[in-house]
Amino acid sequence: MSVRIIVGAQWGDEGKGKIVDLLSEQADIVARYQGGANAGHTIVHNNTKYVLHLIPSGILHPTVHCVIGNGVVIDPAALMDEIHMLESMGVNIEGRLHISHKAHLIMPYHKMLDQAREKQAGSNASIGTTGRGIGPSYIDKAQRIGIRIVDLLQRDVLREKLRTNLDEKSTLLQALYDAEPLDVDALIDEYMSFDSRIDPYITDTTAFLHQALKEGKRVLAEGAQGALLDLDHGTYPFVTSSNPTSGGACTGLGISPMSITSIIGVVKAYSTRVGNGPFPTELHDATGELLRSEGHEFGATTGRSRRCGWLDIPALRYSIMVNGITEITLTKLDVLGCLDEIRICTGYSIDGRPVKHFPADAATLERVTCDYITLPGWKSDISGCTSFDALPPTTRAYIETIEKLTETPISLVSVSPAREDTFAR
Ligand code: GDP
Ligand code: IMO
Ligand code: MG
Repeated sequence: MSVRIIVGAQWGDEGKGKIVDLLSEQADIVARYQGGANAGHTIVHNNTKYVLHLIPSGILHPTVHCVIGNGVVIDPAALMDEIHMLESMGVNIEGRLHISHKAHLIMPYHKMLDQAREKQAGSNASIGTTGRGIGPSYIDKAQRIGIRIVDLLQRDVLREKLRTNLDEKSTLLQALYDAEPLDVDALIDEYMSFDSRIDPYITDTTAFLHQALKEGKRVLAEGAQGALLDLDHGTYPFVTSSNPTSGGACTGLGISPMSITSIIGVVKAYSTRVGNGPFPTELHDATGELLRSEGHEFGATTGRSRRCGWLDIPALRYSIMVNGITEITLTKLDVLGCLDEIRICTGYSIDGRPVKHFPADAATLERVTCDYITLPGWKSDISGCTSFDALPPTTRAYIETIEKLTETPISLVSVSPAREDTFAR
């Protein structure tokens, strides 16, 4: 029995999809525990690219079972699209996808509210969400008016709950955002039609996982987003509305903290952020542009340009602390091969005074200045390297410096998008 949690240690897009796919070789079950179709997890296998939003990144392994846990918010339309996409690419999911009956649904009005709020906030105050309705759906969950997967199985209850919700949301959208009124009956019909299509996948995933663990099965818990986007621990309010940090795996799947055997932090060799909010090591110059183009740093969900910057050790140490990360998987190291010199932020200061703890508020984080060390680059393509020893000495020094500064072992290194270009340290 084992439960390994895989978390993004930065602002998302660290390469979790690739790493989960790779580690699925040693797993029986892969389970997503939070977030929704705001996630975009890329897997490149046999020269084919798969981008997953809701379905766990273990799905390409024919014997692996995939769970969408109670902590996930599910857009049924996005889910059906993803199932069709996989089927059309020859991936058979029959009998392998298990969706929690306790997961909440994303409704069209959640997406409308998300987008309307962002538009009204304007470019200065908006969060830069993915517009997938994530925040409004978690708001309804917390407000105890959300509609859950289990409700799809009870038509009368669903109709009743939908009507109440739709009346309220329609009023809200019209009054606050000057939106068109919602067509209540059309929406009810649309959602009623999802029940038969999703029905084969719906189950008690908590019971399923507990039985599997009892039988000695190996579970990978797949986080979406990253620690610095965590609702509680991230750079609030520029965060997502769930808990990507490791604790979220327990609540989002219904498993005990006692069952967790390791916590793997996926760390990109530099930093990126998509959307608004503080980003201390951000590069606004040609180096930032270079990282973006060499790293293909464009969102897998929205296609937006990702902001790029140097590796940020204070943020990483904080992330390691709040997640309890036991080992790091370092990704996209090959991308740094384009640089003469590489900088690492080792500390923050404000008004010349060192900042001891990661700031709790975005305004303070905006004000920090970064202290850097500079390391020589390796100016070569390392994507063909298959071992630590085969790396140039300057690359090895970069890895060892990160290990020292974070006081955390780097157990896996990734040097290209492909599954095979990854090696153990
Ligand atoms: P996720 O959200 O954490 O799963 O990451 P994304 O899929 O959004 O973004 C990571 C991007 O980097 C994807 O395009 C991956 O194919 C790519 N990628 C992952 N690992 C590596 C690597 O080691 N080197 C390079 N060059 N690309 C990588
Ligand atoms: P993966 O799993 C990077 C960001 C959005 C925005 C903020 C809130 O692929 O790493 P939301 O739509 O969640 O309300 O947006 O969070 N964000 C992500 N950034 N990777 C992601 O997922 C993200 N999911 C949300 O850009 O800043
Ligand atoms: Mg992504």
